Amino acid sequence: MEDTNNENDKLINHLAEELASNMHQTIQVLSTIVSISEKLYEGSHSRFVAEKSVQVAEELGMNEDDIYELKIAGLLHDIGKVGFVDSALYKYPKEMSPFEYTQYMKHCEVGMQLLKPYKPFQKIGEIIYQHHEKLDGTGFPRNLQGNNILPSAKIIAVVDFFHNAVYKKPRTKVNTPASLVKSASAASIIEQTQSRFNTALNYIFKKAGILYEKKVVEVFIEIIQAERISLGQKSVLRLPVNKIEEGMVFAEDYYTNYGMLIAAKGEKISSDMIKALVRFAENDQIPMKILVLK
Ligand SMILES: [Fe+2]
Ligand SMILES: [Fe+2]
Repeated sequence: MEDTNNENDKLINHLAEELASNMHQTIQVLSTIVSISEKLYEGSHSRFVAEKSVQVAEELGMNEDDIYELKIAGLLHDIGKVGFVDSALYKYPKEMSPFEYTQYMKHCEVGMQLLKPYKPFQKIGEIIYQHHEKLDGTGFPRNLQGNNILPSAKIIAVVDFFHNAVYKKPRTKVNTPASLVKSASAASIIEQTQSRFNTALNYIFKKAGILYEKKVVEVFIEIIQAERISLGQKSVLRLPVNKIEEGMVFAEDYYTNYGMLIAAKGEKISSDMIKALVRFAENDQIPMKILVLK
């Protein structure tokens, strides 16, 4: 009897592991697809939104399961934009043609519809559905208000606005080949974005309690300002990929030969990323030496 129980436990554990690994792989595939529509950003929009949303949630004491869902929702929040024409990706809503605007207004719902059929993604789909709602009901697509908006959607709304305001590439630079862009330094990275950074922070600060959840704004501003100060204290190094250490920051975007963004400027380097970088460098997908901030 005990043996049968042990066998059952093993089988259940095995199935649970397999399910978790399938889900993980599915998320990776989906977020790679999302990154195709992110070429008009400095770095990765969805990775930034996921990472910073998680930091805010941890600071606010959100539970682990909710944080996990928030992370995936952050990675996939704009999945409904996949297939957009480029013009709809770089224009601000006010500048869009009626067709582009209709497409844009539907991206939250499309994202939710894509994920809804899969049970583990249902709550994530609902967060995605709500990521453009605003506290006062002026958001879209359903004009939800206050407590009718999920806490996770309120966090993504702040981080998403900020990243769009600061890191969407200015229109004139869209077609500039990477080799012509001035080489990065800690000071130049900060300088290039300083005025957009200040304007964006002032805006969310002013709109706290009106459009955005006050506590979320306070915590986010604290995180982002602390990060900026520490970035300013770092120096730029060109290092062989096998000399890169955890905690350093990418000073440039790096793409594979087939155009997939694998390292995003400003992103903190994790141990998993180091392993991936070594593999990509060995396969000549990225240079053997890359620019980092330490
Ligand atoms: Fe969006
Ligand atoms: Fe977004």
